[in-house]
Amino acid sequence: MKILILGDIVGRPGRNILRENLEDLKKSYDVDLIIANGENAAGGNGITRKVADELFEMGISLLTTGNHVWDQKEILQFIDEEPRILRPANYLEGTPGRGSAIIEVGEKKVGVINLQGTTFMPCNRNPFFVAEEEIKKLKKETNIIIVDFHAEATSEKIAMGYFLDGKVSCVFGTHTHVQTADEKILPQGTAYITDVGMTGPYESVLGIDKDLIIKRFTSSVPVRFELAKGPAQINAIVVEIEENTGKAISIERINKISSQ
Ligand SMILES: [Fe+2]
Ligand SMILES: [Fe+2]
Repeated sequence: MKILILGDIVGRPGRNILRENLEDLKKSYDVDLIIANGENAAGGNGITRKVADELFEMGISLLTTGNHVWDQKEILQFIDEEPRILRPANYLEGTPGRGSAIIEVGEKKVGVINLQGTTFMPCNRNPFFVAEEEIKKLKKETNIIIVDFHAEATSEKIAMGYFLDGKVSCVFGTHTHVQTADEKILPQGTAYITDVGMTGPYESVLGIDKDLIIKRFTSSVPVRFELAKGPAQINAIVVEIEENTGKAISIERINKISSQ
């Protein structure tokens, strides 16, 4: 089975480049399932019903999120009834929504777990222990398990990769919006990358207009962030998984830049 995983989709530029390229990517990599991090899909902040539906219509089966999940207040109205949008599983007890899901892909099932890091991020439950709990639940139904670890610190992400090596098919990082070049298969058969990167404005600072961010770093007066215009990029990985064992066969990184 081949799974295409898209790094944080940022606003309209991210959605537009996907609309133009996703079908081709799906065909050329012979992909069975597409999942994406959608925490910045609505104008760079959070996700709305309309934007989520737009992404599902493009062929994305499931959206993970992270610290920006609640940026658009309307998500609280529908996340409980929308199993295709996850929020980190290690959020505190009583948080709306869910942190894991099972997706049916033909005859097979794929489990997906969303987690958030603890370093330089708000305090939640320990993602390592929550990962173990969630894996235990999902393993009753499938050996194919994918983990989005939405985290800042590279050390925490690499540690999670090794911690889950052999227990899941893939651990991928999101949140930094910068793709790392360390994709590999870990010793026990788990595909790993520290960060998939960002699907959004190419000439930008993490998706935001670069001049505004430069102003932010060179002025004591606050600036209002706006998404950058111009060319866009798709950052993604394609992971191939042996269906019966759930072990990863390969992981390939995609970094595609639009012409304008
Ligand atoms: Fe993000
Ligand atoms: Fe984030």
